[in-house]
Amino acid sequence: MFNLVLFGPPGSGKGTQSENILTTYDLQHISTGDLLRDEVSRHTPLGTEAKKYMDQGMLVPDEVVIGMISGKIDDTPDARGFIFDGFPRTRPQADALDKLLEFKNTKIHLVLALDVPEHELIKRLVHRGTTSGRSDDTEEVITKRIKEYHAKTKPVADYYNEHGKLEHVIGDHTIEETFKTLSKHINKYLLPVT
Ligand code: AP5
Ligand code: MG
Repeated sequence: MFNLVLFGPPGSGKGTQSENILTTYDLQHISTGDLLRDEVSRHTPLGTEAKKYMDQGMLVPDEVVIGMISGKIDDTPDARGFIFDGFPRTRPQADALDKLLEFKNTKIHLVLALDVPEHELIKRLVHRGTTSGRSDDTEEVITKRIKEYHAKTKPVADYYNEHGKLEHVIGDHTIEETFKTLSKHINKYLLPVT
């Protein structure tokens, strides 16, 4: 099994690159943002609670997010591996993920961090906001999401760096060029299936 964390600020291309990686390497995609938006659209109690935070660009409480992840991993016991997109976002989430994977006799093998300058992040997300329908793709909320990333999520990269798992990738080249660079790192662990 191969488990990858795709790390980076809002708008760095985690979702975009996940799509390419999961088909090329036959991995399962776990995006906490997508899972939460699904809960919101189905008006579940979890979704109603999460929406309050998401609409303000704040992180949803750890226990809510951690609770969602475990079941998702169990859904596909024969998976070749997982891409974690937008998770973990805090140190407690990173610790919980380590414990969860250890329990399943596996671990995080690699963390690829997409580096993109802030002005480019804002430009991309404001542009996406014109069509995405995402309530958090407004300039005001985007700025809050980036602030929250610096305050709570960036320390997670330091944690993985201390464990020798972190690699930085330039994320403001074209989608194709960025994918090539990401692939070079993944190929050290796993061969493409396509
Ligand atoms: P989440 O859905 O995870 O959003 P995010 O991390 O804020 O960022 P995005 O998904 O908007 O960006 P991305 O990096 O995936 O970039 P994308 O590929 O879309 O989280 C949303 C909210 O949910 C959070 O604010 C929080 O409230 C909650 N949440 C989620 N997970 C949580 C957790 N673990 N704990 C607590 N709360 C959590 O690309 C962006 C745009 O750029 C697209 O339009 C794309 O086409 C374009 N683009 C991509 N790559 C390129 C490129 N190379 N060149 C030009 N354009 C590009
Ligand atoms: Mg995303």
